[in-house]
Amino acid sequence: MNVLKRSFYCMTLLSFAYFNIQCKGEKKGDNTSEEMPQSKKMVTISKAAFGVTADSVQVDSYTLKNQQGMEVQIITYGGIITSLKVPNKAGVIEDVVLGYPTLAQYEKSSPYFGALVGRYGNRIAKGKFSLDGTEYTLATNNGPNHLHGGEKGFDKVVWSAEVLDDEGALKLSYLSKDMEEGYPGNLKTIVTYTLTEDNALEVFYESTTDKKTIVNLTQHSYFNLSGDFSKTILDHEIMINADAFIPVDKTLIPTGELKEVANTPFDFRTAKPIGQDIDVENDQLKNGLGYDHCWVLNNQNQGIRLTATAFDKASGRFMEVFSDEPGIQLYTGNFLDGTLPSKQGGTYAYRTGFCLETQHYPDSPNQKEFPSVVLNPGETYKTKTSFKFSTK
Ligand code: GLA
Repeated sequence: MNVLKRSFYCMTLLSFAYFNIQCKGEKKGDNTSEEMPQSKKMVTISKAAFGVTADSVQVDSYTLKNQQGMEVQIITYGGIITSLKVPNKAGVIEDVVLGYPTLAQYEKSSPYFGALVGRYGNRIAKGKFSLDGTEYTLATNNGPNHLHGGEKGFDKVVWSAEVLDDEGALKLSYLSKDMEEGYPGNLKTIVTYTLTEDNALEVFYESTTDKKTIVNLTQHSYFNLSGDFSKTILDHEIMINADAFIPVDKTLIPTGELKEVANTPFDFRTAKPIGQDIDVENDQLKNGLGYDHCWVLNNQNQGIRLTATAFDKASGRFMEVFSDEPGIQLYTGNFLDGTLPSKQGGTYAYRTGFCLETQHYPDSPNQKEFPSVVLNPGETYKTKTSFKFSTK
């Protein structure tokens, strides 16, 4: 990551505008560089035009492919993962993330399919928070609350892209101007997606600011490990390494309590199907219309560790989510209602995708007991999450 850090500090505003893109063509068995792990060298990255936004900005797609056949397509609009193809237990490679085939559809209406979410992933009560006695007002775009960065969050802006050839990585950059969407400070953000040869997609986030601000970035992919988006995700088995979760009110704002998961439908310490308890009589499940909650992950301050897993028995696909974040939101596609078009034809029905969004807790700026989301000038916000795929 040193290269990344260095290039970040050297970056001028101009260099945000455009980068030279190179397509890689290393061959198997190429041993020219001793330091570069063979695994990273094998990833190939290709670029193609994806579309043009309603306000005439060019959007490109980048496809990262490793030697195992795992393939990830990312577009510069919203840093969206538009497809993620991984093998099942028979070696059949299929797409496991919901999305759209066209940019126009993403622009028209998307429940954050595959997107980078910022400046603040999740909700901020009444769209208000204070820093050093100054109150800031954000868009209330989710009932009475602020959600996922506002009207035009990081999911709807066009990022600058740079291919990091030697690392099998795509580096996306975005400068969010002071008071954009109501947030203070010019916030420079870099998100680096890295595909590894052991079928992991790593997401590394970095931000700096010139004025005290808040930041909480996440990735909003909807997974359906079956590869068949007409199926619900209710029989996917989920494990969440958390002894407690964060109860919310009817508008999904934390009550402030951290509740033990033991003897509740929120106990995923041992893997169980999403559908096992999702419809039991429970006030929290009513508030979320299913699972739409943040879990208080175990082993905080231990750096990157296993936070959650998902397993689809029929396909054998297994996903592990590693992160250094204190929380993870499990959202079970409760708002999918059969109105949005599926890239596989038809529409996305109720609960046909689930999200595991690593993050700080919802409404942290207004909850003094929660881990801080404040970023000061001179500091660098850094966080990493890795989605690793295998079969069993
Ligand atoms: C998040 C929220 C959900 C919902 C989805 C997008 O996961 O927690 O309530 O808004 O995004 O539909």
